[in-house]
Amino acid sequence: MVFPERVTLVEVGPRDGLQNEARPVSAADKIALVHALQAAGLRHIEVTSFVSPRWVPQMADNAEVMAGMARAPGVRYAVLTPNMKGLEAALASRPDEVVVFAAATEAFSQRNINCSIDESFERFRPLVAEAHRHGIKVRGAVSCALGCPYQGEVSGDEVERVVRLMKEVGVDHCGVADTIGTGTPRRVQQALERALRHYSLGEVSGHFHDTWGQALANVYASLEMGVHTFDASVGGLGGCPYAKGATGNVATEDVLYLLDGLGIETGVDLERLVDAAAGISQALGRPVASRVGRAVLARRERSAAP
Ligand code: HMG
Ligand code: MG
Repeated sequence: MVFPERVTLVEVGPRDGLQNEARPVSAADKIALVHALQAAGLRHIEVTSFVSPRWVPQMADNAEVMAGMARAPGVRYAVLTPNMKGLEAALASRPDEVVVFAAATEAFSQRNINCSIDESFERFRPLVAEAHRHGIKVRGAVSCALGCPYQGEVSGDEVERVVRLMKEVGVDHCGVADTIGTGTPRRVQQALERALRHYSLGEVSGHFHDTWGQALANVYASLEMGVHTFDASVGGLGGCPYAKGATGNVATEDVLYLLDGLGIETGVDLERLVDAAAGISQALGRPVASRVGRAVLARRERSAAP
């Protein structure tokens, strides 16, 4: 088996992580998080979303955060845009990438974006064209690819239908999202295989929530297929307001520790990444939740002890 030599980590903590926090997080704390993440070496950061502030008030400061962060050279900043209104608002913030998100099930599509799957693609079609006109890459996420909180099981055909629609409307990249974290390695490989029928290896990624503790195994299973792009969330922050009980994404530092151990390059520094996790956890008033984050902090405490 030949693993990829290099993996791209797409940090989604500021967006996926903070969209789901009950406790308000200030724009200044969000900006500090972005700065800490880029200082750790992350070169792809999903910063915020341009969605309805009535639906997701946590992201209402989108423009403020985008305007307040100091952009580092070589870093690509992405934002979520569910429709043309979102894209138009986002353009003023000069994102490098935008993310559209569709669901593999009708039930989740209705709950999350208030329309059917087909309607969502009618919204995406002009959005993609307009983003491309501005030279902006469009990534797509297929939510509920491994299970749906409303429907339950999701078939490969349901996943592939949405992947095909993504391709048809011109979305550049296809993320396979386990929104509720129920996927297991073989099933993840089957879902990825559906995406790889329509997108190249470089344009397929995994977005695994860790609700059932399978996310790292699912990353490993994806690596076995050569998939080399993963979304992850510092400190394991995250969830989706429309998937109650689903916990955060796989923690970036947990994935990094795995990749470091496999000798796979990422350009990300573990110690500085844990600093970022500690910073945002402190802002949220709780300890770092990730396994590797806690282990690194405990090691620091031991070595600081007299
Ligand atoms: P809607 O109510 O159907 O939209 O919402 P509408 O077009 O009927 O408009 C209703 C009102 O919303 C209007 O305002 C619009 O202007 C406004 P009013 O006239 O009533 O004052 N509006 C907007 N405002 C700001 N930004 C916009 C926007 N669009 C309309 N873009 C909509 C449709 C999609 C906007 C809504 O359902 C929404 O915002 N949903 C939230 C979706 C969301 O953020 N979910 C979480 C992120 S996705 C996720 O976490 C999954 C992912 O991580 C992958 C995975 O794990 O699965 C990506
Ligand atoms: Mg998510």
